Amino acid sequence: RCRVRPFPSAAAGINAIILKRGRCFERRGGTNMKEITLDAYGKLNLTLDILGRRPDGYHDLRMVMQSVSLCDRVTIRETENGQIALRTSASYLPCDRGNLAYRAAEAFFAAVDVANPGVALYVEKRIPVCAGMAGGSADAAAVLRGLRRMYAPQLSVEELCRIGERVGSDVPYCVFGGTALAEGRGEILTRLAPIPECWAVLCKPDFPISTPELFGCVDAKKLTSHPDTPGMCESLERGDLNGVLRRVYNVFEAVLPEKYSEVFVIKDKLLDLGALSTCMTGSGPTVFGLFDNAAGAAQTAERLRREYPQTFCAAMVNLGEQFL
Ligand code: C5P
Repeated sequence: RCRVRPFPSAAAGINAIILKRGRCFERRGGTNMKEITLDAYGKLNLTLDILGRRPDGYHDLRMVMQSVSLCDRVTIRETENGQIALRTSASYLPCDRGNLAYRAAEAFFAAVDVANPGVALYVEKRIPVCAGMAGGSADAAAVLRGLRRMYAPQLSVEELCRIGERVGSDVPYCVFGGTALAEGRGEILTRLAPIPECWAVLCKPDFPISTPELFGCVDAKKLTSHPDTPGMCESLERGDLNGVLRRVYNVFEAVLPEKYSEVFVIKDKLLDLGALSTCMTGSGPTVFGLFDNAAGAAQTAERLRREYPQTFCAAMVNLGEQFL
């Protein structure tokens, strides 16, 4: 059950243009494509709020999400052997149903009226893994976007999000992309005004955080502070970067176990190095700092990288309807 509102006009079956950092890639839609390569953008949580636990074991969330230019690259090639095959550039990642990209291809062919002719997927990883940046979900969403172009260009964004929902809670948003409000399990999506121009430094400390473990630390009724989500949406609408910066907040920070306190050390370092606002993204442990100029972000990333090798500089990605 995926609801997407307001509903964007999907440019199904026509030539799609993906604008990326000043460059322009034109990719042909239709059903005669044999290979496609897509960028799978990571995301930041500008806000993350937990409203309560649901009977199905998941939590009701309210999150303002933002795509960033740090991306994996996903290639889909038709093989004509009827199988799904997956390879990645990171040897430690699973290449079977344990990988969301594989599951996305399975879910796609199970949902559409097209027999799987055989597809070979290749994922070039750049987004840190187990980092709170939805890297696995971004790959799954790129597989769905690519397969849609190759085999089912008539599918709407809503239908593609609904397939993504079966693969993981963050996948519908990753299909949708840009600046968006995600509610429910993460599948109820509302397009928001694009974030004003800014840059992020993303820093992942050298440990993973398990998402189910962190959700297990939360008693939603006991949370005392919540992000000002309406204020964040209004600031975006006004194009008010200061309003956005003031309202960046993730409730997971309030329940973070002591063993992950490095997150707060990184936040302090980012502020000392000039970040205007800092926050953990998703269930962490990646911390981001926001900057109003690219040079400041680049210098800060360079400094932090000496201590934390998984530090990246990223621009905001606001492709909206062109995302597909
Ligand atoms: O849907 P997905 O498999 O990505 O979720 C991973 C885990 O995160 C779930 O098993 C659940 O523990 C937690 N989760 C949650 N509420 C959500 C999304 C995820 O409790 N809305």
